[in-house]
Amino acid sequence: MEIEIIKFDHFGRGIGYINNKIIFVKRALPKEIVDIKITKEKSKFYEGKIINIKKANDNRIESICPYYDKCGGCDFLHINEKLENEFKINKAKELLGRCDNYYETENMNYRNKVTLHIKDNQIGFYEEGTNNLIPIDYCYLLKNKINDVIKVLKNIDKKDIKEIIIKTNGYDVLINIKGNIDSINLPYDNVVLNNKLIKGKDYIEEIINGKVFKVTSNAFFQVNKEGLLHINEIIERFIKDKSINKVLDLYSGIGLWGILISDYVNDITMIEINKESCNNARVNIKNNDIKNIKVINGKVEDYIDRFNDIDLVITDPPRCGLDKKTINYFKNIRSKYFIYISCDMYTLKRDLKELGDIYDIKEINLVNMFKRTYHVETVCLLCRKTVDK
Ligand SMILES: C[S@@+](CC[C@H](N)C(=O)[O-])C[C@H]1O[C@@H](n2cnc3c(N)ncnc32)[C@H](O)[C@@H]1O
Repeated sequence: MEIEIIKFDHFGRGIGYINNKIIFVKRALPKEIVDIKITKEKSKFYEGKIINIKKANDNRIESICPYYDKCGGCDFLHINEKLENEFKINKAKELLGRCDNYYETENMNYRNKVTLHIKDNQIGFYEEGTNNLIPIDYCYLLKNKINDVIKVLKNIDKKDIKEIIIKTNGYDVLINIKGNIDSINLPYDNVVLNNKLIKGKDYIEEIINGKVFKVTSNAFFQVNKEGLLHINEIIERFIKDKSINKVLDLYSGIGLWGILISDYVNDITMIEINKESCNNARVNIKNNDIKNIKVINGKVEDYIDRFNDIDLVITDPPRCGLDKKTINYFKNIRSKYFIYISCDMYTLKRDLKELGDIYDIKEINLVNMFKRTYHVETVCLLCRKTVDK
């Protein structure tokens, strides 16, 4: 069946219509004429896949990845960067009403962390939405240091291994093997087995703006360092001419944002649920000789109502965004300034609507740090309505 693709949906699929009913077609692009096959039929929509492209969008390119058809890791290897950027900017304009700045990062080989699965002694990723393993030799999103490790791991006996987490700072590599084994001999300096250190160091070290960060295997660290530098630039630009006393750094991970601004503010409290990340944060605070940060290991929603007189909230939640209790409490805290860092524009839109009672949006910044996927980081700068600027 032939259809014309009108525009993108927010997940990078093409939208067309069959007798006025919407159809979402994976990897079809705006202005294309495609023959499709319907793969799902629901009362309100269809889903389809391309059988043949009759008229291609000028920005369509040939994917360079042999696993692209099955692997769910990338969404945009079939389009050029120009169209990817347009997609992300338009998504922000449609969902959030504006996009003030757009920050680019390297196109490929940016990810500093990967989780690989093992099945039948083969190493790779799961096929999108399944547990079927796609064995891989190379991934274009991963830093080359990780791809080098994958080449080596392909040739070792992996039959009792379930999962391998690899992290790198571009020089050192940290490998965490998980499975039903008691020992392993790998030609790498830093190896953790079932979360216990068996060789070298159990962390990767990153130096960011003169501050040193240790990150262990299961702690969260931003996957694209160039992207995190842009986010930090945005935060520093926002706070630099403001007098800020007390800061809440929520969903704080290994303490990244708070530590990076610790020279410019008086007092920071971090809240983070993950114990390992909190331990990393405490080590990072001590190693950088920082005296003005406290770390609370717990859920933001369980601690948020203990705070008042806050000047700046930095919140960087997971995709699910902020829960009701936390949002309501933000309305009480009435912090002067608020930075919302989000990896999901839908939950950001929902939360900004609630925060709109007390805050004005000053800037929406996009940091394209998940290149070649439909994801993008949004850094939203807000000021309390009664505060100038
Ligand atoms: C997107 S990461 C951001 C981490 C950190 N701000 C950074 O940039 O490195 C989200 C963090 O929120 C933590 N988290 C998830 N749910 C939480 C909750 N209810 N309360 C506190 N922390 C939570 C996760 O463990 C994770 O470290």
